[in-house]
Amino acid sequence: MQYVTSSEVRTVGVEIRVEGLTKTFGRQVVWEDVTLTLPSGEISAMLGPSGTGKSVFLKTLVGLLKPDRGSIWIEGRDITRLSERDLYEVRKSFGVLFQDGALFGSMSLYDNVAFPLREHTRRSEREIADIVHEKMEMVGLRGAEDKLPGQISGGMRKRAGLARALVLDPQVVLFDEPDSGLDPVRTAYLNQLIGDLNAQTEATYLIVTHDINTARTVPDNIGLLYHRHLAMFGPREMLLTSQEPAVRQFLNAQRQGPIGMAEEKDADELAAEAAIGVELPALAPIPPQLVPSDGQPRRTMRPPGQWCREHGVIPPPGSFQSLVAGTPPGTPPVTVAPVAGTPPVAGTPPVAGAPPVAGAGRRPRGGVLPWARR
Ligand SMILES: Nc1ncnc2c1ncn2[C@@H]1O[C@H](COP(=O)(O)OP(=O)(O)OP(=O)(O)O)[C@@H](O)[C@H]1O
Ligand SMILES: [Mg+2]
Repeated sequence: MQYVTSSEVRTVGVEIRVEGLTKTFGRQVVWEDVTLTLPSGEISAMLGPSGTGKSVFLKTLVGLLKPDRGSIWIEGRDITRLSERDLYEVRKSFGVLFQDGALFGSMSLYDNVAFPLREHTRRSEREIADIVHEKMEMVGLRGAEDKLPGQISGGMRKRAGLARALVLDPQVVLFDEPDSGLDPVRTAYLNQLIGDLNAQTEATYLIVTHDINTARTVPDNIGLLYHRHLAMFGPREMLLTSQEPAVRQFLNAQRQGPIGMAEEKDADELAAEAAIGVELPALAPIPPQLVPSDGQPRRTMRPPGQWCREHGVIPPPGSFQSLVAGTPPGTPPVTVAPVAGTPPVAGTPPVAGAPPVAGAGRRPRGGVLPWARR
């Protein structure tokens, strides 16, 4: 199936610049002084232990929660200072997949997906029907239009929420755990769908996920919220080679490191680890980044190994080469030559909001979305 956005106009993403953002609930500081830039048209992922405020961050970006301090700049306007009326206008350019789907329980899936179109546009019911059917097909829910949210599985509700988030062809899409509650095969299709849609629309994406495989393969940039701060945010390769303990532990799914069962390990646990001289396992190889179904890189994708080369970081052995058998069509074989005479870098500093390396690659045209056929 050739995918065409419903308006048949390419959506173009916008940059979102977050500066010094702090959010508290009463005496609880959720996070403070968060500074980062979501580059226009790129896919960014936000990770973090449960309860570190990832959902609160998304809700703050879309203006549903007010920060205590800081700014969110979109197209020259600080949206934390907009009136409700202006914010309502800005929200039209956002699509949000909420963590729980946030569907209206008494409305059919069709009406749920049609809701933003009826609320925010003057389209006829006939036009709305075309768009709703297209989006429902895209997420593999064709035929389930008449069902109520209570009559379908959690994974189906997620996909219905995704269809609704995309229905206005938004410039910015925020996905709160799109893959939770999905089986591994559907997660793979969903990730492919996200990559394909981004290639098609060039909208700006932010994905909150707990799925390490998703985090390691899908985004251009990764951030980690931890211990009431943004521990790091930057290009995928920077985070995947980081020696910053929490980042390294999280992205390599290790027990060794500062993150414990409760959010932080206590002093005794850390002292015990230090006493027995816990050796950190080697960094996992950097996997190839997911390419759109048509095999063409997204416009904002950086060539494999580029960030490592430019920063004198030797990627872990086997990086960018792990998909030999079963490589998706069009994935170029990649060998990254180590930089001559460059010692392995002991650690990359935590640089929240580090600017990404300039994008490269050709603009893709027309993706195939196998999801719809399943
Ligand atoms: N409306 C609210 N009022 C008061 N406290 C809130 C509110 N929303 C969230 N919180 C608190 O803010 C903190 C962060 O919550 P949030 O839902 O953002 O975590 P999260 O990182 O998304 O976790 P998870 O990975 O489990 O989804 C929690 O301690 C939560 O109880
Ligand atoms: Mg959450």
